[in-house]
Amino acid sequence: MEAIYWSDDSLKILNQTLLPIKVEYKICTKWQDVEIAIKRLEVRGAPLIGVVAAYGVVLGAIQYKNDFNNSNDFKEKIREVSYRLSQTRPTAVNLFWAIEKMIAVLNNISETTDAEIILKLKQEADKIFSDNKESNEKLALYGAELFTKPVNVLTYCNTGTLATAACGTALGVIRAAYDQKKIVKVYAAETRPLLQGARLTAFELMQDKIDVTLITDNMVGWLMKNKMVEACIVGADRIAANGDTANKIGTYTIAVLAKEHNIPFYVAAPLSTFDFTISSGKDIVIEEREKEEIISFGSSITAPLDVKVFNPAFDVTNSELISAIITEKGILKYPYSESISKICREEA
Ligand code: MRU
Repeated sequence: MEAIYWSDDSLKILNQTLLPIKVEYKICTKWQDVEIAIKRLEVRGAPLIGVVAAYGVVLGAIQYKNDFNNSNDFKEKIREVSYRLSQTRPTAVNLFWAIEKMIAVLNNISETTDAEIILKLKQEADKIFSDNKESNEKLALYGAELFTKPVNVLTYCNTGTLATAACGTALGVIRAAYDQKKIVKVYAAETRPLLQGARLTAFELMQDKIDVTLITDNMVGWLMKNKMVEACIVGADRIAANGDTANKIGTYTIAVLAKEHNIPFYVAAPLSTFDFTISSGKDIVIEEREKEEIISFGSSITAPLDVKVFNPAFDVTNSELISAIITEKGILKYPYSESISKICREEA
């Protein structure tokens, strides 16, 4: 099942808020459709948000084609659209990374017709999409190398096909290791408040016939204490230069529990999830979302309507708690400031 695809000058987004009940694609013909889809989590997951935003820029360019007398004004309008798209969610750095790439292409375009500008932008969005696929597949295979004997693993949130351009980050590793018979069973924690683990991860793994068992988030410690899981693997929304990692709220709790029980805790993420401009997780902006996500469940109200609510969508796990970070360039080990800068030097 494809999370997104482009056809007939429009972006089709599998509406994840309806899963697993309904498989329905939203047709985005305007950049504003993409803006809404990202904000409402109809499409989500750090790498996929970046890809979708890039296509959102293309939609904006198509929308305003022929509205301006000169290409500079047209380009300025596209920059404005890009800025608006970058404001949809604050934590996943892939969003800013992808938009920066689109702006860099826009700034270097020497062609002057609107059609030529649109073509270059579309080519860049396609490249962001295909590069994501390629890095995802490499990362999955590197990650599988971490498993030397068959184990049960715990994963959190959704990091699979629905969150990336391919097989997934943490779920990509799980898929590869499962194929290699190094993973026996996967525990998916449901991931309150929006249940990405229950609705999306359980759904994806069951489609692939991977042995998955759903648990509530507050069962994680008990599973560990009873030696039911031997490794944890999660994705990331932003990784600072020292390896501190922002991911779905609740990830930090799992990392602390893993340390207490001497269980390896792995993070899987492409290099586009690293933010080299920040030295530590202290500088990561954490998205806070609407209180409705906490006080209701579907259409049922589950708390007093006027109760005060704190709803951060992400937390930051200190790098010391992370046993390894799996990337498309290989496996990084603590201290991450050193292993990350070594990879960057090799990249340059
Ligand atoms: O709020 P979401 O559903 O976008 O949060 C997603 C996560 O936290 C994922 O773990 C992360 O983006 C990595 S996806 C490969």
